[in-house]
Amino acid sequence: MAKELPAPLYETRNGKAYVGDALELLAALPDSSVDLVMTSPPFALQRQKEYGNHNQEQYVDWLLGFTVGIKRVLKETGSFVLDLGGAYQKGRPVRSLYNYRVLLRLCDEQGWQLAEEFFWYNPAKLPSPIEWVNKRKIRAKDAVNTVWWLSKSDFPKADISQVRQPYSDRMKRLLADSKGFYSPKKRPSGHDISGRFGEDKGGAIPSNLLEIANTESNSQYLRFCKIAECEPHPARFPPKLPEFFIKFLTEPGDVVLDLFTGSNTTGAAAEALGWKWIAFEIEQRYLAASAFRFLPETKEDSPKDIYARLCQSLDEHIGVSGGTASTTSVLQTGMEHHKRSVSFMTAAQRLLCRAGHRRRPSRGMGPRHPAGRD
Ligand SMILES: C[S@@+](CC[C@H](N)C(=O)[O-])C[C@H]1O[C@@H](n2cnc3c(N)ncnc32)[C@H](O)[C@@H]1O
Repeated sequence: MAKELPAPLYETRNGKAYVGDALELLAALPDSSVDLVMTSPPFALQRQKEYGNHNQEQYVDWLLGFTVGIKRVLKETGSFVLDLGGAYQKGRPVRSLYNYRVLLRLCDEQGWQLAEEFFWYNPAKLPSPIEWVNKRKIRAKDAVNTVWWLSKSDFPKADISQVRQPYSDRMKRLLADSKGFYSPKKRPSGHDISGRFGEDKGGAIPSNLLEIANTESNSQYLRFCKIAECEPHPARFPPKLPEFFIKFLTEPGDVVLDLFTGSNTTGAAAEALGWKWIAFEIEQRYLAASAFRFLPETKEDSPKDIYARLCQSLDEHIGVSGGTASTTSVLQTGMEHHKRSVSFMTAAQRLLCRAGHRRRPSRGMGPRHPAGRD
């Protein structure tokens, strides 16, 4: 088990992104040091995705191997938000229960509390599986992921007023003329709908059904992937999903961890809000491309260069080239062209210097330094 984290592949003002197996990297984080773990592991799909899947029976055991470490690093007031897509059993129009088994075992065996179940509805999801939905037309389009919000205690940090949604047109009309609309009374359900119902609170309390279309088509991440001629990550969060849970479940300055970070949508959401983040990803090329989310806008060819160098540093990590240059410097160097990133760059330089001081040789693994938090 790792005692300390390796050098990050890149770092920003607020976060650090590490290449490696999350199981080992988790072991290097201190106890009770993370406020929110927001993640989406590879799903237990039958069709092998590009990034690999475990078969459904083994999947639950595999995933539960990580959650022990998650519980250890999470603060008592912290939350663990786990996004799991649904799946069918192999060759049958029968659903797998794996996402529910994960939930039951987390609570029954590891003592997690289900604070609330959320459902992420992606109206833009394409119909699948083709056999049952498109060809035979015997199942509906599966457009909802289960998102388990788990906690260590009954009262994890949470403030729903941080994620109020725009009022409906009906509610707006009511707020404009609450007296004309209705009078305070007790409902048949026993709910006492007082006059305060007509107060404008700046938005409505959201439900646990999150409608977020996953339709990213012209983001900087995708544009830079095109310039760098690399494939974008095939299963990205819409940025609004991690943003919702970060705002809901953490406060400024808190630490957010995504241990299956992919294109690091979670880190980018935390960075945009000014929160601290830590990202783990086993595939270096995914993590390399995820740096695009943090680069300033550019018309130059630098994404290609940055991507190549961040990928190349894999060789440094595994000792192929034997290089020990801080991989962190790659992102910084790429940003040096950009005048608009002065404050960002200064912060990166500062972190880089600190990482440089800690640098010491290790068996071809590149520089290592203690846990990835300031
Ligand atoms: C569903 S994707 C996450 C996508 C991410 N939410 C985003 O917005 O881009 C799951 C990721 O977990 C990574 N992964 C799989 N096993 C891993 C492990 N043991 N440690 C770290 N990352 C792993 C995969 O390479 C993949 O990129």
